Amino acid sequence: MDRSIVIYTSKRGSTRQYAEWIAEDLGCRAVPLDDALKEGVDLHDYDCVIYGGWIRGSGIVDFDKFAKLLDGGIMKRLIVYGTGFADETAENYAQVWGYSIGKIDPKNENGAIMYILGGRYVPEEVTGMDRFLMKIMRRVLLSGSTPDAKMQADRIRERIDNGVDMVSRDNIASLVKDARKKIGDK
Ligand SMILES: Cc1cc2nc3c(=O)[nH]c(=O)nc-3n(C[C@H](O)[C@H](O)[C@H](O)COP(=O)(O)O)c2cc1C
Repeated sequence: MDRSIVIYTSKRGSTRQYAEWIAEDLGCRAVPLDDALKEGVDLHDYDCVIYGGWIRGSGIVDFDKFAKLLDGGIMKRLIVYGTGFADETAENYAQVWGYSIGKIDPKNENGAIMYILGGRYVPEEVTGMDRFLMKIMRRVLLSGSTPDAKMQADRIRERIDNGVDMVSRDNIASLVKDARKKIGDK
């Protein structure tokens, strides 16, 4: 039995790519969330549990669905990552945290760890509801009250319009280090 497991939800491949790289580094499996649920995975079997989802409107997609598998014990061994096109600023981090781990453990008593990893956005690939949501998101992007917030908003608008690819194996280094620590702690 592997000591870790990576479970993920990816729509266009970048979150899956990270899941596969992390799994390769840790010598474990990377499994789509729906498959993990179908096979009735028991997270108590693992020293380190990683969940990755793409970010949609600052929420980590299907985190709520994944969270049904959690309890306090597993939270101690949990690392979550979201893949997105926004930089990991304190503001963005706090927002994504609030919609995910923060919802189930607001004081982070279990010490779960969260990362935001640089994603990929190809405007032509985004269709249907996602395209509609993106149009609204772009419109309501605040211009920012501080010079820094304004710069972030401009940067995101530029990425929505022209696309961006920030997916790089280098981005997983700290996450993998944390995962090894969690495995070692057991
Ligand atoms: C409808 C929609 C909403 C998104 N909202 C956000 C967001 O709020 N913050 C962010 O950083 N990225 C956001 N993104 C960007 C994607 O999450 C990002 O491109 C990610 O890499 C996609 O992952 P995937 O390739 O695994 O599907 C959004 C993308 C779409 C299509």
